[in-house]
Amino acid sequence: MQEAVKTEARKPLPPDPKPTRAANDEAVAPPETVRIAALGDLHMKEDAAGFYKNLFLELNDTADILCLAGDLTDFGRTKEAENLAEDLRHLKIPVVAVLGNHDYESGQPEEVARILRQAGVCMLGETAHVHRGIGFAGVKGFGGGFGRRMLGAFGEPAVKAFVQETLDECHKLEIALRSLHTEKKIVVLHYSPVEETVVGEPEQIFPYLGCSRLAETIDRYDITAVVHGHAHRGSYRGKTPKGIPVFNVAANIEKENGKLYSVMEV
Ligand SMILES: [Fe+2]
Ligand SMILES: [Fe+2]
Repeated sequence: MQEAVKTEARKPLPPDPKPTRAANDEAVAPPETVRIAALGDLHMKEDAAGFYKNLFLELNDTADILCLAGDLTDFGRTKEAENLAEDLRHLKIPVVAVLGNHDYESGQPEEVARILRQAGVCMLGETAHVHRGIGFAGVKGFGGGFGRRMLGAFGEPAVKAFVQETLDECHKLEIALRSLHTEKKIVVLHYSPVEETVVGEPEQIFPYLGCSRLAETIDRYDITAVVHGHAHRGSYRGKTPKGIPVFNVAANIEKENGKLYSVMEV
């Protein structure tokens, strides 16, 4: 019995991953609520240097952390990523991000991610991030459609490869979520996990805007909220089958605060 008590007493606490930015803030007592800003589909262009400078300056006062939900660049070009990295230097709060399909277009998503990491962005993936006691997990996600009409892994190898891409993204997200021990968790995606937030887009392209398999993974965990982009003409608010709130934060989507980005207090 004594031995059992000793073992329990020695049990180490789970490590708290270090933030990539605003390290000094960690020494301050956490606030009652954390303001989480989220924005997707920035589509930074080669000739648009400085486009987001004022937005990022504003976010320094309106949020405690920013989630970027993919399509950070228009064509995944080096110059586009460099432009965004330069604008991000005006942002003093931490940033977590996932890539979107546009960031893959030039065949060098790793280079886009590398440039953004150098600017202090925490690129999510198999590794999650914790800031002020809130866990952040994210992946790009992929398509496949929703509900009973979801594409199945049947027939040609190309169809199976398509479905496998989504399953691989779900697997990465699962690894990240399993590593989080925080009470509150935010999931950042590019593709939508639910149909509700792509409504407004032509129905014919719903299967390319997201996939219910992402929601199946999310619903296995106690997630506080999900943010995603990609569906530029979709709807702002939705929820997973389990009831987890989902927000389409693509730049074009009208938010409740009238801004390009959403802010939730968690
Ligand atoms: Fe986009
Ligand atoms: Fe996209």
